[in-house]
Amino acid sequence: MKRRVAVVTGAAGGIGIAIVRKLLDNGFAVVATDLDISAPDQLPGLPHAQGQLCVARMDVTESKSIREVCENEVLARFGRVDVLINNAGIFRRTSALAIDDGVMHQILAVNLMGVLRCTSIFGCAMVRGGGGRIVNVASTAGVSGAALASVYAASKAGVIAAAQSASRELAHCKIAVNVVAPGFCDTPMLNPERALVDKFTVPRIPAGRLGEPEEVAEAVLFLANFSSPYLTGCVLTLDGGLTVG
Ligand code: NAI
Repeated sequence: MKRRVAVVTGAAGGIGIAIVRKLLDNGFAVVATDLDISAPDQLPGLPHAQGQLCVARMDVTESKSIREVCENEVLARFGRVDVLINNAGIFRRTSALAIDDGVMHQILAVNLMGVLRCTSIFGCAMVRGGGGRIVNVASTAGVSGAALASVYAASKAGVIAAAQSASRELAHCKIAVNVVAPGFCDTPMLNPERALVDKFTVPRIPAGRLGEPEEVAEAVLFLANFSSPYLTGCVLTLDGGLTVG
């Protein structure tokens, strides 16, 4: 059987690198992409993947950058794409009463429009290849909102709606589109908010702790690896029970 080919966005971040490792460990060839790839062909902690790992700079806010990676790195090297993990994202604190236009555009451009762009470009390659799996990394903020994060939450609600819409549209092409919605996870994204989260949020998490990137990666792998595209349009929440009920 041919090795399946997965593309991961935001692959140099806390959750992204865990997803790349999980996919490699489970037999996928991986094209790991990020805006911030300083050392081509290397990601920290992943020095050796026997030719099954390709690292590429890709900015999800630029269609040209996505098309170039799709053509020059993914299709030229591996011939097809079977899995897309839309994981790249940014967080900026925004009060609902004081929205800065620049910050709003920045968050939406990466978190929401980036997912739409990548789905469109890599989705076309999947259609030509006869099927695939797309997994969007959203957030529980996109399900139930988050104080001081209305733009981020709106972007993630959009990511969920985008996946649900694409799942309806692409089911007949054997492409499944699903969502993992993590709660608070221990990654660099959380660092600026860590003191507040430790004080106010962690005590409210029934599991009593933050999520680990490896746990998100496991959920992503489940959806990417599911044998049938009949599992589509689902939102898998992973938050230690924080938003249950
Ligand atoms: P992170 O900050 O560690 O990683 C995010 C990665 O996205 C970085 O490597 C960054 O360079 C990349 N990125 C930013 N802008 C980009 C662009 N224009 N093009 C390509 N790559 C870009 O954050 P983390 O925690 O690993 O987040 C991964 C995903 O998980 C994000 O979508 C985030 O919103 C989501 N998430 C994270 C949670 C957390 O508590 N850490 C909770 C819920 C969801």
